[in-house]
Amino acid sequence: MNLKKLAGFKAAEEVKDGEIIGLGTGSTTHYFIESLGMRIKEEEIAIMGIPTSYQSFLLAKQWKIPVTSLEEHDVDIAVDGADEIDSDFNLIKGGGAAHTLEKIVDYSAKRFIVIVDETKLVSKLGTFPVPLEIISQSIKPVFQELKDMGADPEIRMAKYKDGPVISDNGNFIVDANFYEIDNPIQLEKDLNSIPGVVENGIFSQMVDEVILGTSEGVKVLK
Ligand code: 5RP
Repeated sequence: MNLKKLAGFKAAEEVKDGEIIGLGTGSTTHYFIESLGMRIKEEEIAIMGIPTSYQSFLLAKQWKIPVTSLEEHDVDIAVDGADEIDSDFNLIKGGGAAHTLEKIVDYSAKRFIVIVDETKLVSKLGTFPVPLEIISQSIKPVFQELKDMGADPEIRMAKYKDGPVISDNGNFIVDANFYEIDNPIQLEKDLNSIPGVVENGIFSQMVDEVILGTSEGVKVLK
C-alpha cells in the first residue's frame, strides 16, 4: 500500500466545488494534485489552485487545474506535505526547498491540512535538519549564528547540477541540524530574525488537520 497516495487521495475528497486550493509541494502532494485533477475531469468541479512551487505549478498544468494567485483569490484550503510532524502538529518542511512560498500560501489558508505517511510522525522535531532559505551573500554570518545556536549547518548541494541548490526564488538553501528541538515555536522566530534568512522550515501552530497514511488505513487527526 502506498501510504502517501492514501493520504493525498483522501485530502482531495475534502475539496468542494468552487474552492480555491493551496497546492503544496513534494511527492505526497503530487498524489493530491493528481487526484484533484481526476475530480475536475470526472465531476466537472470548478476549483482553482495556488501553487507553492514550480513543481506544483507544472503538475497543476499537467492535470488541467486552473491556476490563480494570492493577489486574485483567498485560499480556502491548503494541502501540503511535511518532513516531520510532532504531536502538537508542529512541522519541519522544506525537504523540497519550497518552504518559503509554502509557508506564505499555507499560512494564508482558512484551513491548512497536512498530508503525511506515518513515518513522518516524531515525538520531538529535529532529526530532520531545518531548511533555511538564505540570501547567498549571507552564508558566513548566517553559519556563525547557527553554530552559536548549537546547530550544524550545511549548504544543500544539487544532485544534477554542479554547486548549490538554487531555490525557486533564486536563493541558497542551508540545512541546519539541531538534532533535538525543545521549543519549535521560539526557534521558528529566532531563525527568521537572523539577517539573510528569508524563511525557515519550521511551521509552528499552523496546522488544522492531519491526514495520515498508515498501514491500517487512513486516519484524520484534528
Ligand atoms: C517541500 C516540502 C515537502 O512537503 C516535504 O519535503 C515532504 O515531501 P514528501 O511529501 O515528498 O515526503 O516541504 O519543500
